[in-house]
Amino acid sequence: MPRPCTMSPAMALLLCLAMLSSGGWCGGCRDDERATLLDIRGQFNYNSPLDWNSTDCCRWEGVSCSSPTARVTGLDLSILHSIASSRGLLNTTMFLPLQELQDLSLSGLKIQGCTPGAGFEVWSKLHRLKVLDLSYNGKLMESDVPSLVAILSLRSLFLNGNDFSSNMTIQQLSIMKLDTLDIGNNDIKGTIPTDICNMRDLQVLYLSDNLLFGEIPSCMQNLTSLRILGLSENSRLILKFPSLIFAKLTLLEKLSLVNNSLEGVLSLSSLQNHRQLTKLELASSGNDFHVQTENPATNLPAQIQVLVLRNCNLNGNSGIIPSFLLHQHKLESVDMSNNNLSGNFPSWLIENNVNLSHLVLGSNSFEGPLPPSKVHTSLQWWVASSNRLSILPVDINTTLPNLSYISLSGNSYMGNFPSSFSYMNSLQYLDLSYNNFLDDIAAAFVGNMSNIIGLKLSGNHFYGSFSPNILLPAVKHLLLSDNEIAGKIPEKLCGSLILMTFDASNNKLTGPLPTCISALSELAILNLRGNSLAGSIPSEVCDLQKLVFLDVSKNNLSGPVHCLPDLRYLHMSRNRLNGTFPIPLYLGNNIYIMDLQENQFSGVLPKLIGKSFPKLKVLLLKGNMFEGTVPNDICSLKYLRLLDLSHNRLSGQLPLCLNIMGSDDSLFDFQPGFGTFPVLFNVIGLPDQEEFMTKGRQDKYRGNILNYMTGLDFSSNQLKGSIHESIGGMKWLRALNFSENKFDGSIPQSLSNLSDLESLDLSHNNLAGQIPSELVALQSLAVFSVACNNLSGPTPGTKGQFITFDLSSYEGNPYLCGPPLKKSCFATPSIPELEENGEQDDKVGHIILFGCSAMFYMVGFWTSLGVLYFKTSWRRSWFSVVDRFGDCVLVKFFVFTKNIRSTN
Ligand SMILES: *[C@@H]1O[C@H](CO)[C@@H](O)[C@H](O)[C@H]1NC(C)=O
Ligand SMILES: *[C@@H]1O[C@H](CO)[C@@H](O)[C@H](O)[C@H]1NC(C)=O
Ligand SMILES: *[C@@H]1O[C@H](CO)[C@@H](O)[C@H](O)[C@H]1NC(C)=O
Ligand SMILES: *[C@@H]1O[C@H](CO)[C@@H](O)[C@H](O)[C@H]1NC(C)=O
Ligand SMILES: *[C@@H]1O[C@H](CO)[C@@H](O)[C@H](O)[C@H]1NC(C)=O
Ligand SMILES: *[C@@H]1O[C@H](CO)[C@@H](O)[C@H](O)[C@H]1NC(C)=O
Ligand SMILES: *[C@@H]1O[C@H](CO)[C@@H](O)[C@H](O)[C@H]1NC(C)=O
Ligand SMILES: *[C@@H]1O[C@H](CO)[C@@H](O)[C@H](O)[C@H]1NC(C)=O
Repeated sequence: MPRPCTMSPAMALLLCLAMLSSGGWCGGCRDDERATLLDIRGQFNYNSPLDWNSTDCCRWEGVSCSSPTARVTGLDLSILHSIASSRGLLNTTMFLPLQELQDLSLSGLKIQGCTPGAGFEVWSKLHRLKVLDLSYNGKLMESDVPSLVAILSLRSLFLNGNDFSSNMTIQQLSIMKLDTLDIGNNDIKGTIPTDICNMRDLQVLYLSDNLLFGEIPSCMQNLTSLRILGLSENSRLILKFPSLIFAKLTLLEKLSLVNNSLEGVLSLSSLQNHRQLTKLELASSGNDFHVQTENPATNLPAQIQVLVLRNCNLNGNSGIIPSFLLHQHKLESVDMSNNNLSGNFPSWLIENNVNLSHLVLGSNSFEGPLPPSKVHTSLQWWVASSNRLSILPVDINTTLPNLSYISLSGNSYMGNFPSSFSYMNSLQYLDLSYNNFLDDIAAAFVGNMSNIIGLKLSGNHFYGSFSPNILLPAVKHLLLSDNEIAGKIPEKLCGSLILMTFDASNNKLTGPLPTCISALSELAILNLRGNSLAGSIPSEVCDLQKLVFLDVSKNNLSGPVHCLPDLRYLHMSRNRLNGTFPIPLYLGNNIYIMDLQENQFSGVLPKLIGKSFPKLKVLLLKGNMFEGTVPNDICSLKYLRLLDLSHNRLSGQLPLCLNIMGSDDSLFDFQPGFGTFPVLFNVIGLPDQEEFMTKGRQDKYRGNILNYMTGLDFSSNQLKGSIHESIGGMKWLRALNFSENKFDGSIPQSLSNLSDLESLDLSHNNLAGQIPSELVALQSLAVFSVACNNLSGPTPGTKGQFITFDLSSYEGNPYLCGPPLKKSCFATPSIPELEENGEQDDKVGHIILFGCSAMFYMVGFWTSLGVLYFKTSWRRSWFSVVDRFGDCVLVKFFVFTKNIRSTN
């Protein structure tokens, strides 16, 4: 076979041209290089079929060649989308025949390192290799990195996205003569090594998205060739202004300091020499950074395209919009959120910059209208949430016709749904939540809004009932919570076959959950909490294959639950559901959180509870009528960290294996992944708020509280037997409540091992013996009660946290002594003075009962868990309530002593 193209370049070219013009075929790349490429590809398990069939490998996807000689100069294997290289190791030797290689990309191939004996130093023989991309291999071995420095020809190195963790790696690379280094998006901890200042040729440096901390070394001012510097997302990396680094790097074109710890004052006048600047991103992770643009008012010599000045106390929060912006005409993206800017919305910013596509001015104090006088076709993304805006321009559909994302959440808009939005054909996401819109939801959408994907109208005063109008043809995320929408859920809703999120919580919906719901095959989030839905839960919900989150709490749903959908978050609390414990169709359900509190479920807990719900992390069954024993299989719930079985009719002894429960904290990501819709639409309070009930007070906490809470609550049942020593092995416990049962035996000393315990309630049982003095080791204890038992001997006294517990923690244990009780452990018992007849006894008895149950209520599970969150303030309020019951507590004490005397 002729190989014309391996001759001298000129000859080859001539020959090729001759052959092509005569209708022949030019052989292209060399056989050995073709074979090499195929060998290399063979190392990877890839799934994209590549077009590597032709004989001329220069025409292959990802391969580029020098033009006359047809030698391979570039190879981009990232297009393979490799699943894994064989054994994850790269054979570097295999590349050596590609002698002319200049540019090699091995990005995203899941390479874990080099085969033993031949590291990257082998490539020092590839004398022309200049650009090497090893980014996004995930687990690329950091120990192979030092062998890279042997490749002397290298000028550009990409190591981003590789799980590196050591700042030594940066130091090792610092002897290279690179002009481009990207080592961002790793987990590198530590300070930036000063050796990096030796890389005088650096033009592009990315260290963003790591865990770097400490001050940026001042010698970086010597990197005067830098054009692009990215240090963003190292929230503890400190840069103090005024900064010499900054002042000396006058060739900078792009500077990114987003979410760094910026300090001091940056005066815009210090940017006078930065003529090339096109991207300036400044956003401090703290509050100590100030940007000064006025006094003296300064203009920039540069025309910026991307400007971020977020959370930087612009002009001392005086509200003044930087005047230099009046002279900027090339802006494409502007983010000046969280600066207390005030006055009229700067619509001139839109008018002056024809290319402006993103304008983010959230969390300021803008009041005035946005009067776009001219048509502006570039603006796509407009965020003005959390301002004081109140008037929408009626012709926004004409003047800003290409807006696709609008967030006006948290402003002061009133009145009807703005009809101009109905005529914006490019609009995909619209967030008008938390304003004061008042409109009939059925009449609101007059236009077609045919491209709306996400619509959030939560927290307004929309009323009326659903009409088919609201089911916009492209809508995937519909959030209407906290309005006044009434009526039934229309069957029409089931026609929205692409709906993924439907949140109509806290409205006034009535009627049943329609059975046609099974048609919503894409539905992932269904939140109908806090309505007045009635009827039973249709078993059709189990047909929703993609459902991840279901909340129908706080409705009037009744009847049994015949089937459980296989989802992650299940909230059915506060209804009138009855029947036995709902059982999944198959063992091995995926539920993480199951909340069935305050219903009328009865019967026994399922024997195979552990095998049925192996992933449970939170199980809340409080306030039902479950009976029988707690099944042994509950111990196999190795992820379970929050169990509330209180206020049921459970009896018998607790399983002895309880301590195994929750032993595994390697729990899967607790945040559900709902795809990549914009942040704004992600915020719907998952896994949802929980309520903390105290007498006369109800607090709501929105957020992932269930992620952090751990505890066991068995209170108010008829459980008996002793509290097993092994409970002391459940180190993760923060709250433990055994109160209002028939537990006997003594308090296990092992409880003192529960070092995170914040709340311990053993009150109202038949516990006897002494309180283990070891409990004083519990440093975090904030709530403690052993009231109403048969304990004897000294209290833990006033050591450690116990100094904060008063009489109420011990009341109703006649044989206890020592502080804070009045009874000394050394003095002879004093004779109680109270003398009453039986009738009075009864009365006193009632008061006691009230006092104690109210007390008990206060020490309730959620209250004590709440302590974790509202630590100081809740602790204070808890104690103040306890004080109010002080009188009852004393009465109780007297009655008990009286009874003792009479039995003696
Ligand atoms: C290349 O060959 C492979 C198998 O050898 C085949 O699956 C693929 O369809 C071919 N591609 C083209 C574009 O011919
Ligand atoms: C690496 O590739 C070379 C050349 O193809 C081969 O000789 C060698 O055995 C390979 N090494 C390993 C460890 O597979
Ligand atoms: C790495 O960071 C640590 C701080 O965690 C610092 O003490 C050390 O000097 C740094 N290493 C180098 C090579 O700069
Ligand atoms: C910058 O480099 C010069 C010459 O190498 C050196 O003397 C000086 O100390 C360096 N500056 C800083 C701040 O490290
Ligand atoms: C800043 O970084 C911290 C820590 O990595 C992170 O929790 C936070 O979300 C970041 N903030 C922004 C605005 O990205
Ligand atoms: C915000 O700006 C207003 C003036 O527009 C000023 O009165 C107020 O004090 C500023 N708020 C803060 C927190 O600086
Ligand atoms: C803009 O919206 C108004 C209603 O506010 C409507 O009357 C008008 O026809 C719309 N214009 C366009 C171009 O769609
Ligand atoms: C459940 O409640 C319904 C009324 O809502 C009642 O008719 C039915 O008997 C109850 N079933 C059980 C097992 O309690």
